[in-house]
Amino acid sequence: MTAHSNLNIVPFVSVDHMMRLVLKVGIETFLTELALVIEEDFRRWEQFDKTPRVASHSKEGVIELMPTSDGTLYGFKYVNGHPKNMKEGRQTVTAFGVLSDVGNGYPTLLSEMTFLTALRTAAMSAVAAKHLARPNSKTMAIIGNGAQSEFQALAFKAIVGVTELRLYDIDPSATERCAGNLAGKGFTIKACSSSQEAVEGADIITTATADKQYATILSDNMVGPGVHINAVGGDCPGKTELHRDILLRSDIFVEYPPQTRIEGEIQQLASDYPVKELWEVIAGKCEGRQSERVITLFDSVGFAIEDFSALRYVRSKLEETGLYVELDLLADPDEPRDLYGMLLRCEAHLRVV
Ligand SMILES: NC(=O)c1ccc[n+]([C@@H]2O[C@H](COP(=O)([O-])OP(=O)(O)OC[C@H]3O[C@@H](n4cnc5c(N)ncnc54)[C@H](O)[C@@H]3O)[C@@H](O)[C@H]2O)c1
Repeated sequence: MTAHSNLNIVPFVSVDHMMRLVLKVGIETFLTELALVIEEDFRRWEQFDKTPRVASHSKEGVIELMPTSDGTLYGFKYVNGHPKNMKEGRQTVTAFGVLSDVGNGYPTLLSEMTFLTALRTAAMSAVAAKHLARPNSKTMAIIGNGAQSEFQALAFKAIVGVTELRLYDIDPSATERCAGNLAGKGFTIKACSSSQEAVEGADIITTATADKQYATILSDNMVGPGVHINAVGGDCPGKTELHRDILLRSDIFVEYPPQTRIEGEIQQLASDYPVKELWEVIAGKCEGRQSERVITLFDSVGFAIEDFSALRYVRSKLEETGLYVELDLLADPDEPRDLYGMLLRCEAHLRVV
């Protein structure tokens, strides 16, 4: 490497950096700022390359690649979803991602995205609810109190104004952990012993369970008029959370229909069943909630543009915080064509030392 060049270097944000970044910015500020970047990118939705994510399914779970570009930057995320992992001491969802310069193809950021996925999913959910839930929604049920749950709660507090939580999980220790982690964060929290109890009086219902099979976390009789449903856990073929009848009574909003029709709750419906695109609501091209009594459903699966926004947001924080390391990721020979010569010089250097 020559003295003038640092073209080999790509900033890398590790898990430790990401945690420090979130703590330095403050998690609610982080979620609020990230939500603004997501909204900004959703308003310019038409500029992006879009494709359903590339999924490799197995009996145990899924590994997915999620690419997109706005013509200036290119981003992708690698993410897995393995519901059985939790019982083996691993995360259900882990991820990392890259942001690159379209002009020369060089990566400009490599980042952990396990935390960032939880943060962006929560920010995205809260943005959807800001546009779709009844104004002054204060009470949220969270069914499924796993890794995503505290992030969801905090995003809904910061962005929507939720202050009351009703928690339920089939595993009471998950609810206990979630309630404990959120103690002193400005919520009134009720631990419930069934989904039915959790949804009583809730303005918003978040489902964030993990099970690789058609599940019925919510049945039709549990959802009253005016409720907003934030369905997070149904995000794979064969992995849904809501009874089909709920879908038939709801106004359904999705991220990217070609992906959601494969992965979302709407895989239970005909492939031409009418749904609305959330970006159009955010961009003011389509009405969100039409009345107090309508049931709105955000059929969330997670789309590449949200990860692109999250990487863009993290990159914007690097200079002021210094929370990254310089990773020697790209070969940078003195003369671009002399890649082999670089190997020879390394060999010579190793012989000397
Ligand atoms: N839509 C998105 O953008 C997005 C992003 C990230 C994760 N996810 C999905 O969200 C879900 C939750 O993710 P996580 O990381 O919190 O998983 P996790 O494994 O940490 O937690 C899931 C929780 O759901 C509980 N659960 C399972 N079945 C239940 C049931 N029938 N009723 C109540 N609780 C039940 C489990 O006990 C567990 O505590 C997963 O399915 C994941 O794939 C979606």
